[in-house]
Amino acid sequence: MKTDQYDAIVLSSTDEKSAQAMLLEHLKTTPLPDDELLANLGLFLTSKNLSRLLFFYEIYRKIVCTHGIIVEFGVRWGQTLSLLSALRGILEPFNRHRKIVGFDTFEGFVGMNEKDGQACRCRDGSFSVSNRYEEHLSEILTLQEQLNPMSHIRRFELVKGDAAVTVPHYFDRHPETIVSLAIFDFDIYAPTRVALEALRPHLAKGSVLVFDELCDDIFPGETIAVREVFGLNGLRFERYPMTSRVSYAVVE
Ligand SMILES: C[S@@+](CC[C@H](N)C(=O)[O-])C[C@H]1O[C@@H](n2cnc3c(N)ncnc32)[C@H](O)[C@@H]1O
Repeated sequence: MKTDQYDAIVLSSTDEKSAQAMLLEHLKTTPLPDDELLANLGLFLTSKNLSRLLFFYEIYRKIVCTHGIIVEFGVRWGQTLSLLSALRGILEPFNRHRKIVGFDTFEGFVGMNEKDGQACRCRDGSFSVSNRYEEHLSEILTLQEQLNPMSHIRRFELVKGDAAVTVPHYFDRHPETIVSLAIFDFDIYAPTRVALEALRPHLAKGSVLVFDELCDDIFPGETIAVREVFGLNGLRFERYPMTSRVSYAVVE
């Protein structure tokens, strides 16, 4: 099942979708006043959405004592980046080096090829976002930083463009980089493969890699890219029982 506007995949059942639609209607017509809405957003958080937040809380705890930056490969609306910024504010507000960098075209998939199969029924341009969304996201991430200590130092960066070009370019421009957490969520093979290769020299023991589509038959390209670059027995893939899809590996 695809979303109407941006060709994203939704795997919810019909019953789930109708309950979600009603919850959404309650959010849009909420009687909560503006000055209490943000503080009560948990009212609309479903178990599925909460499980992803809890996953990233557990992952962030794993990197608190390792040195380096966080990168997300595939940002889309930026929920994970915003969450990571909030977690940084809670868990290590004074870590000046913990920059958070997000890579995306902000125009949907670029570079789909035969290794991505047919099951997702996607094309270049699927999973796009609204026009100039990166500017909107940049404002949100700036506000996230303003609500935490050290807001005078900007500690996020959004890198727009095809990751097959932008990721190697980023590491060329920043040879000092150590990556302590890398989140792979491009969904497709080509940018994932390039990002894995460019990232590899910047990993250290203890670096954590998160994968959103590993062993996923709808998006086989991510697993193929990991297999080609690391070999599947080169990493120990683990998961938390609370999430269905996301896995991670710690570089040993
Ligand atoms: C599933 S979404 C990411 C979701 C996001 N991680 C989150 O937590 O909500 C996949 C993203 O990968 C991006 N993407 C796909 N191919 C890309 C490429 N070649 N270069 C940069 N971004 C790409 C798409 O634009 C899309 O926003």
